[in-house]
Amino acid sequence: MHNPIGIFDSGVGGTSIWKEIHTMLPSEDTIYLADSKNAPYGAKSKEQILQLSIKNTELLLEKNCKLIVVACNTATTNAIDYLRSNYKVPFIGIEPAIKPAAFHTKTKKVGVLATKGTLSSSLFHNTSKMFAEGIEVFEQEGKGLVDLVEAGQVDSEEMRNLLQTYVNPMLEQGMDCLVLGCTHYPYVIPVLKEILPTNITIIDSGEAVARQTKAVLIKNGMKISESRTSKHNFYSNAPIMVLQDLVKGPSITINYLDF
Ligand code: DGL
Repeated sequence: MHNPIGIFDSGVGGTSIWKEIHTMLPSEDTIYLADSKNAPYGAKSKEQILQLSIKNTELLLEKNCKLIVVACNTATTNAIDYLRSNYKVPFIGIEPAIKPAAFHTKTKKVGVLATKGTLSSSLFHNTSKMFAEGIEVFEQEGKGLVDLVEAGQVDSEEMRNLLQTYVNPMLEQGMDCLVLGCTHYPYVIPVLKEILPTNITIIDSGEAVARQTKAVLIKNGMKISESRTSKHNFYSNAPIMVLQDLVKGPSITINYLDF
């Protein structure tokens, strides 16, 4: 089935997921929506996040996407149940990787950096309860981080200071795994690596999402089997410079779209 895979996020962060998907499924075409005009989703109400997720989904369906990846923890934890019950295509979501962190931690202390919208969702709470038995989970809202990534200030002094402020209390409490619960955060891994002691493991869910996308395509008979050059259309409803900096390569087009 040669229809594209649809991917959406509140902005440019989900491109970290797009990269994993493209690496694992190089023959698949993709359409990516960066809803940067409405970023950050993390500070919005559940109802607002749901309405934005519906708007993005319907646009991707208009563009004939065969499967939709909700490349946003905040939208997944607040809207994926609704999307799955109301639209026919398969949906892949992303959630903070509590399960691998619980498996990996030696101190039994795990930090989760995510948006307020993710940390306050019932899906996140249920996942934590299910997989983190016997593990202490420190939740930290990454207030301001999404805005800085959206502004292209990944390596700025402000970013460094904010990250330092957020990880320090969790380090003092003895965490040895830091879960990145927002798709914008993989872009700050280089800064985090400078800040964090070397014994801290950083865990994100990007590769797991790509693996799941591949499995669901195969299960539904949707995966392209031949090797081919794929096309990638990115749409942003904000100025496209930051997106252009993050996503480069052949067969990629990046356009402004008012959605
Ligand atoms: N990339 C989104 C996530 O994974 C950012 C949410 C936001 O816009 O606040 O949660």
